[in-house]
Amino acid sequence: MREIKIESSMMVYDDHTSFSEQERELFDKAFGACKTAYAPYSTFYVGAAVLLENDEMIIGNNQENAVYPCGLCAERVALFSAAAQYPTIPPKSLAITIDYDRVKTDQIAFPCGSCRQVISEFEYRFETPITLYLLGENQQVFKLDSIKQLLPFTFTADLLK
Ligand code: THU
Repeated sequence: MREIKIESSMMVYDDHTSFSEQERELFDKAFGACKTAYAPYSTFYVGAAVLLENDEMIIGNNQENAVYPCGLCAERVALFSAAAQYPTIPPKSLAITIDYDRVKTDQIAFPCGSCRQVISEFEYRFETPITLYLLGENQQVFKLDSIKQLLPFTFTADLLK
């Protein structure tokens, strides 16, 4: 018998000062996106913004439904929209936030399991890691270099071959 150990890490920032103008613009897009989330059932408003290799930024937010499972998370709305508009342009990064004005929490939201799998598919599809910025209240940021930090044992299309 042997044990396999995995290691994960992320960078924690207490404010936005170490980020570039472009990164801060992406954060603003994510903060803006949660304002137009459609989340009347959970009242948990999430915003996301994808930065593409061509410097376009595409936003997404959660879209709920009276038939609850029909709803979709902000991350997937943003990524699917980006891929629909720019199917050949790799995403470089993804910023995610909660609407801290309306959701009373001081915690940072990590992407759900399904979104982790979808982000993983995008890394596989475009053969490039996607930087994740998880935005907190009061300018806190968790930065991860790849979804592999959150989903280390990934199911990819390699297994289907
Ligand atoms: N949600 C997201 O949009 N992203 C996440 O990473 C976690 C959850 C949404 C789904 C649902 O509309 C609401 O938040 C509550 O789960």
